[in-house]
Amino acid sequence: MKTIVCIGAGYVGGPTMAVIAKHCPEYRVEVVDVNAARIAAWQTDSLPIYEPGLLDVVKAVRGRNLFFYDDVEDRIDRADIIFVSVNTPTKGFGEGAGQAADLQYWERTARQIARCSTKAKIVVEKSTLPVRTAEALEAILHASENDVAFEVVSNPEFLAEGTAIRDLEEPDRVLIGARATPSGQAALEEIVKIYAHWVPRENIITTDVWSSELAKLTANAFLAQRISSVNAISALCERTGANVAHVSRAVGMDRRIGPKFLRAGVGFGGSCFRKDILNLAYLCEYHGLPEVAAYWRQVVELNEFQKRRFVRSMLGAMFNTLAGKRIAVFGFAFKPGTSDTRDSPAMAICELLIEEHAQLVVTDPRALDNAREDLKDAPDCAFTPDPYEAARGADAIALITGWPEYRELDYERIFRQMAKPAFLFDGWNELDHEALARIGFHVYRVGAPPLEPPPEST
Ligand code: NAD
Ligand code: UGA
Repeated sequence: MKTIVCIGAGYVGGPTMAVIAKHCPEYRVEVVDVNAARIAAWQTDSLPIYEPGLLDVVKAVRGRNLFFYDDVEDRIDRADIIFVSVNTPTKGFGEGAGQAADLQYWERTARQIARCSTKAKIVVEKSTLPVRTAEALEAILHASENDVAFEVVSNPEFLAEGTAIRDLEEPDRVLIGARATPSGQAALEEIVKIYAHWVPRENIITTDVWSSELAKLTANAFLAQRISSVNAISALCERTGANVAHVSRAVGMDRRIGPKFLRAGVGFGGSCFRKDILNLAYLCEYHGLPEVAAYWRQVVELNEFQKRRFVRSMLGAMFNTLAGKRIAVFGFAFKPGTSDTRDSPAMAICELLIEEHAQLVVTDPRALDNAREDLKDAPDCAFTPDPYEAARGADAIALITGWPEYRELDYERIFRQMAKPAFLFDGWNELDHEALARIGFHVYRVGAPPLEPPPEST
């Protein structure tokens, strides 16, 4: 039985290893992390992350061939294959602060592997990394005093949160990059063999290490670029009376463009898009390509503009003052289907609202604990799992995460309990706006003109 050890039991490491363990019963899969509380939670039915379908997969394989440990160093040498899926956040200090990837966790892991290994291993880059990181990894591993043969393979992850299990079970592609040497190609085949248990061979694509590393950053940059493109058009729609949903539909039906990731909203969030594009831009700058860097950076700048624009539109609609007004914030997760609030547009929007001295009541079906933590230093913030409670007495509702639950609410009841005039700012064009205006709401949409209530209902 071969042993796979995955270092990093987060949003990527946990689900990815659970699915590998499910499909590859002849491998022993061990997930390790320095965060002992996280590892303890993986051993219960209250997993440390919320992801639809994940618990079922974990329960089916935990204790069979999937195991979780917090003694990272003791586990390393048991591995034939090590996946490294530690976090690679944006650097907050020194050279490249706010842009470059902070590789300290990555390098610490590389040094641990070098120090603790006494037998040959394949080390797989699962984290998203700057192109040519494998070079540094190889340098650290090959400097090991233990005289061990290491082969570095890149296998970036493309799953999206909220659909991680589906994305892992039926990936559009699995990408594996390795050196062209005989040992590099042998390592590549070992990794192909794992995925071939359930992924059609034609969907497993192989390449060199640098192309694999760069393809991951590029994929995220392209996805985010589409969102910024449609959000840019949404601003023009609001000025011209066009409707961005109609524009998106017409554009997306061109098969060369396609319909996905053309939804206008309050801007993209999540732990990766911003960090990966800024990292890509930094790499371009580093390699003497300032024009290319500026091109990609604009995708992030437009995203910041979209969040500010949302708050400005609230301010403009509500007579240019939000001070002391109660605003019900519907949704705090960075997107529906997850409890993750990392780099959520909700946080940026709440901060801007707080600067305006608004009083916030935040509600979210899954992310309320994280919201509480993120806003713990903010003044005038209340939290409730109940959207009716959040809206009671509020001057406005700001729908910031498009949870489908919010479509099902009784808005007549909500309207009755709000201060008047009652405003609703739908950051995702999620609700039935005509019906809301008929009830009496002043409805503000993204990328379409506002809808006023008929005169008799105000
Ligand atoms: P995460 O923060 O949820 O998990 C990373 C884990 O690594 C943490 O639990 C941390 O404690 C652990 N860790 C850090 N240093 C360690 C060490 N030296 N030894 C053992 N454990 C250590 O991060 P994530 O969201 O799973 O992302 C991991 C990587 O995957 C990042 O590079 C990210 O860009 C990439 N990625 C993330 C997603 C996603 O949807 N979240 C998707 C694709 C790729
Ligand atoms: C994204 C990519 O989709 C994954 O392929 C990638 O593996 C992952 O980043 C990563 O590297 O971490 P994720 O951030 O989990 O996945 O979620 P997405 O569904 O891509 O949504 C990201 C953000 O874009 C969300 O805030 C979402 O609301 C927003 N979005 C998405 C839009 O604003 N409009 C859209 O049309 C689609």
